[in-house]
Amino acid sequence: MPEQAEFSFAGLDVERFAGRVDTPFFLFSTRILKENYGRLRHAYTEQYTDIRIDYPVKTNRELAVLQILCSLGASLDIAGEHELQLALEAGFPVQRLTLDRPHTAQQGLEACIRAGIHAFIVDSPQELERLEDIAAKLETEVQACLRVQVGSRGIFPNPVQRYLAKFGIPRSRIVPLWQQGQRLEHVRLIGLTTHVGSQLLTPKTQVRAVEELVELAAAIERTGGTVAEINLGGGIPSPTFRRQTLVGLLLAQVGLRRRQTPANVAEFGRQVGTAFAAAVGSLTHPPTLVLQPGRAIASTMGVCVTRVRAIKGQWVIVDASQTSLPESLFFGERAILPLRQSAVARLRRWHVSGPTLNTGDVLAVNCSLPPLEVGDLLVIRDAGAYSLSVDRCESDAMQEHWDRAALRMKGGFRGAPSTAYYRRREIALFRRYFSPMAGKRLLKLDLWNEVHNTNILPFAHAQGMRVAGVDISSVVLEQARARFEAAGIDADLRQSDIRALSFPDNRFDCVYSMGTVEHLPNPGAAISEVFRVLKPGGVAVIGVPNAHDP
Ligand SMILES: Cc1ncc(COP(=O)(O)O)c(C=O)c1O
Repeated sequence: MPEQAEFSFAGLDVERFAGRVDTPFFLFSTRILKENYGRLRHAYTEQYTDIRIDYPVKTNRELAVLQILCSLGASLDIAGEHELQLALEAGFPVQRLTLDRPHTAQQGLEACIRAGIHAFIVDSPQELERLEDIAAKLETEVQACLRVQVGSRGIFPNPVQRYLAKFGIPRSRIVPLWQQGQRLEHVRLIGLTTHVGSQLLTPKTQVRAVEELVELAAAIERTGGTVAEINLGGGIPSPTFRRQTLVGLLLAQVGLRRRQTPANVAEFGRQVGTAFAAAVGSLTHPPTLVLQPGRAIASTMGVCVTRVRAIKGQWVIVDASQTSLPESLFFGERAILPLRQSAVARLRRWHVSGPTLNTGDVLAVNCSLPPLEVGDLLVIRDAGAYSLSVDRCESDAMQEHWDRAALRMKGGFRGAPSTAYYRRREIALFRRYFSPMAGKRLLKLDLWNEVHNTNILPFAHAQGMRVAGVDISSVVLEQARARFEAAGIDADLRQSDIRALSFPDNRFDCVYSMGTVEHLPNPGAAISEVFRVLKPGGVAVIGVPNAHDP
């Protein structure tokens, strides 16, 4: 027996990576991703051939992950405009995209309608009306599915039911709403959808959901409608993720573990697929079975490698934190293993904490690991799903977008006649609204123009203003910093989402923004921030494009 056993992950030399890049870092395996997708598809198609897999982008939205899934023939469940952009960038045809985000902001809905995606999942009667109104305004037709609240039928009310009640439409309202929907001119109802929970330990609740949704589809058929797709949501478990229960949580506090092995994907496919095939036999038009598996596809394809930074009694502080592995301890726990383990080491109970000053930044309690030392490497499993993709929320998607745009853009429009025109117009605005300028503090929202276009901050600086600027893109920020440094301009330039500025209240006399806030789904949040950082009596000029004078 070897003295030291090394954690093996998809045949990769994890330790060699750790020598080349800083910890913490994520490793994703293409091979495991492809295997997970193939195994899942096979498990269901064995029972029912007409299936579609809508991978939820929120699970892990790395471009490479999406590109691989695209090549395997997957479809996507997207949550708004930024995920639409990512999907298109990954090569997905619009017919393979379904928007599944309750109460999507207007801009996101419009973008998805204009793009012509396959369907929209509707969470309430009001949302259906809203979709009709927007589609009418855009003079087009869209397809929609109704999300059904699947109730519990047990004797005891399910406590989670209270939380699930915020999603979807009660069962009793589905058939009447479908009938109303058939009178809409711009929305065509095509399906029913639900989601009964994540990391399900058995297929039982999904089988029940199949029965309820097919019963509804039959009732809809009796009124003359057709349900072309039935979507069961996500919930197929990862085999290695430990789902928490109340009893499990209490036991963990005293150092005991409850082993709960979830049913595997083959079992889900067999039971759910069989139930579906049997149930839809009663329908005139057998629908497509749609699945939205997130965790089952992405979870085991990733690990996070982290280093021990400090040890305090039973606490081991590592450099990865809940911020990049956001999974509440109350929901479940990822397994943590040593990268190298001596065959003879006696295991101890450790609590593993992230380094942030947040009491809740705990990755595991009473976790069995060998004796540890500062500098040791640990591997956190199940880091492929709901890890950095959640951490890097919408604002990061935007940052990525602008980073990529900045890298693609070489030279910009500096010498263009339009730039000279815009610059003259901007100078006129400055003179009109900010004069006298000398000594005033100015904040500029976004630095794109400082790098690629009109370059108005140096003008303000030359007028004696004390200038500051923010941009969401670190690439744009670095480019702007380099230019300002070369020109000897002293400016406070920061990376920031304009909806969360790092400046104190009442800081600036003037705020200037041109062609920026309209990129946000919620521009009001940026305007509130502008108001907050402006001194009383300060002046903001916020320009947006004019449809009549582009
Ligand atoms: C509507 C819907 N579909 C799919 C999923 C993905 O679930 P899982 O990762 O458990 O498969 C979720 C998760 O919250 C969801 O809410």
